[in-house]
Amino acid sequence: MKISDSVALVTGGNRGIGEAFVRALLAGGARRVYVGSRDVANARHLVDEAPDRVVAIPLDVTHPQDVEQAAANCPDVSILINNAGAFCMQTLLRAPDMTSARMEMEINYFAPLAMCRAFAPILGRNPQSAIANVLSSGGVVAVPGMGGYSPSKFAARAMTTCIRAELAPQGTSVTALIVGSVDTRMASHVEGFKEAPATIAKAGLKAIERGIDEMDTDSMAIEVRASLARDPKAQELMMRRSLSTDRVSTGR
Ligand SMILES: NC(=O)c1ccc[n+]([C@@H]2O[C@H](COP(=O)([O-])OP(=O)(O)OC[C@H]3O[C@@H](n4cnc5c(N)ncnc54)[C@H](OP(=O)(O)O)[C@@H]3O)[C@@H](O)[C@H]2O)c1
Repeated sequence: MKISDSVALVTGGNRGIGEAFVRALLAGGARRVYVGSRDVANARHLVDEAPDRVVAIPLDVTHPQDVEQAAANCPDVSILINNAGAFCMQTLLRAPDMTSARMEMEINYFAPLAMCRAFAPILGRNPQSAIANVLSSGGVVAVPGMGGYSPSKFAARAMTTCIRAELAPQGTSVTALIVGSVDTRMASHVEGFKEAPATIAKAGLKAIERGIDEMDTDSMAIEVRASLARDPKAQELMMRRSLSTDRVSTGR
């Protein structure tokens, strides 16, 4: 799949990793980039950067009518990047109710599924087409401190594999991007090294170009997978540290 001359749609493209994807697509020669944004005013700066190639579209990925409109208004998309996501910072049991767990499933699992369903026929009309789902190391190892986020990314990862099989006959490649820790608003509370969003976008476009099924986009994602392969139980226990009180109760 070539980036040059492609037409891409990036959900949540107004900031963070999505914004980096928009810039990387432009640098790679994409003919047009649709920037999905809940509020198109937040994508204005990207339209101003390349008014002839960037089109901001209103798109709350949890709103079926927005998804339907996006498919109707962007009939030329050849690359769909499901990037929009949310992390509610609640654990599964300590949260007052299941609102945040449900919301994470809606945004991180059902919404990219809805986008894939809406755009599959459009992608199929292109001789070359691709979907990339922006996932997380939290979808490779369960992170208790991430509550509903981790399960939602596990679900999205399984969905990515299923959709890859369903779209194989039409030649659309479907890539899972496994992302570690990145310097964006979502990870503003996270300490330690955080990768630049541009690094993730660069790796992501490489994966799309090469039709790679699943790619670890950064050093943390690579390390998490290696650690899981070495000793799954040690990895599970290490992840318990994400629950600060458990660190005390387990003595770890
Ligand atoms: N940052 C990390 O460390 C990290 C690690 C692993 C994976 N990821 C994944 O990377 C992706 C991008 O995250 P990020 O780090 O760039 O976070 P971010 O800076 O918080 O950006 C999140 C983006 O998603 C959009 N969004 C949220 N809910 C939406 C909805 N219902 N409809 C449409 N757009 C919505 C936001 O739009 P608004 O501006 O309107 O809020 C924003 O554009 C996510 O899927 C995330 O899970 C991030």
